Amino acid sequence: MRVLSLACLLSTLCGIHEAVVPQNDKRRNDRPIIGILAQELKYPELKRNSYIAASYVKTLEAAGARVVPVMINRPEEEYSQLFHSINGILFPGGAANLLTSGYAKAAHIFYKLALEANSRGDYFPVWGTCLGFEQLLVITSGEKLLCRTNTRGVSLPLDFKQDATQSRLFKDFPPEVMTALATENITVNFHKWSISMENFTKSEELRNFYKILSTNTDGNIEFISTMEAYHFPVYGTQWHPEKNAFEWSRKYYPHTQSAIKTTFYMADFFVNEAKKNSHSFANEEEAVKHLIYNHNPVFSGASGSSFQQMYYFE
Ligand SMILES: *[C@@H]1O[C@H](CO)[C@@H](O)[C@H](O)[C@H]1NC(C)=O
Ligand SMILES: *[C@@H]1O[C@H](CO)[C@@H](O)[C@H](O)[C@H]1NC(C)=O
Repeated sequence: MRVLSLACLLSTLCGIHEAVVPQNDKRRNDRPIIGILAQELKYPELKRNSYIAASYVKTLEAAGARVVPVMINRPEEEYSQLFHSINGILFPGGAANLLTSGYAKAAHIFYKLALEANSRGDYFPVWGTCLGFEQLLVITSGEKLLCRTNTRGVSLPLDFKQDATQSRLFKDFPPEVMTALATENITVNFHKWSISMENFTKSEELRNFYKILSTNTDGNIEFISTMEAYHFPVYGTQWHPEKNAFEWSRKYYPHTQSAIKTTFYMADFFVNEAKKNSHSFANEEEAVKHLIYNHNPVFSGASGSSFQQMYYFE
C-alpha cells in the first residue's frame, strides 16, 4: 500500500497519471457502505424473525466502513436497488438452509448482480464467512458438495498454499501476521460442513472459479479454509475472522495480539475492496434511512447465545 501511494504521489508530481496509477486508485470511495445479509432465526418470536450477529458489523466498522443490513425475503427489485446503493456485501456465518432459506435466495440474487456488474467493469466485492463461504460454494457450483467434518469448535493455524502470499487477499498483510496465521491457533472453526479438497478438485466449476489460498484438516479430511475467485472480487473463509476481536462465549476463541490483528487485517482488506466501488444512495438522507444505526443490538450473550450482541429484525 505504502509503495503504491508513493508511486501515486510521484506520478502526480511528474504529471504522468494515466500510465502509472492503476484504474482502481483513481476514484477511491472513502465512504464505503457495506451490506451484511440477515438470516432466519431458528426460533422466531414476535418482531424477531431474522438477525445479524453484531461482531460482523463491528469488524467492518473498525476498518472504516458503515453497514446496511440486507433483510431477507424482500422483492428482487428492492435488492437490485440496494445493490446499486452499496459498495460490497458480506454473507455471514450462521445456520440457514443453503438452498431454500431467505438468506440463500438473497445471496443468489446479490451474487448474480455482483458477477454481472464486475463483468461490466463495475467492481463489486462479495465476502462469505463460514455459512456464507458454504453459500458461495453452493451458488458457484450449482450443487451441494459439502461433507461432514469434525470442526465444530476448534482454533487452527492455516495451511497456506504455495502462492497465498501473492494473493490479492494476503499480499499486503504484514509478514508477522502471515507467520502468526501459519503457526498459531488463531482461526476459529465453528462448522460441521466443509468442502473437501477431494470434492473441490472434482468440481470443474469450483476449480476454475476459486483459487485455494489455504486448507485445514480435521485429522481425516482436508478441507478448503480460505479462497478467492480468480477473476472476480469474491472471497471466502470457512473460519471466522470476526470472532477473535468481538466474541467471547467460547474458551477457544483466541484473543492474543496476533489474533486481533487477524480480525483487523481481514476487515481492512475487504473494506478497501469496497472502496473501489462507487455505488451510492441517492443522497445522505437515503443512506441514513438504511444504516444499521437505525437498529439497536441486544446483549444476547447474557442469555446464552454464542453471540455477544445481535441485531434482531422483524
Ligand atoms: C462429496 O460430495 C457429496 C455430495 O455431492 C457428498 O455426499 C460426499 O460426502 C462428498 N465427499 C467428500 C469426500 O467430500
Ligand atoms: C493448537 O491446538 C492444538 C490442539 O487443537 C494443540 O495440539 C497445539 O499445541 C496448539 N498449537 C499452538 C501453537 O498453540
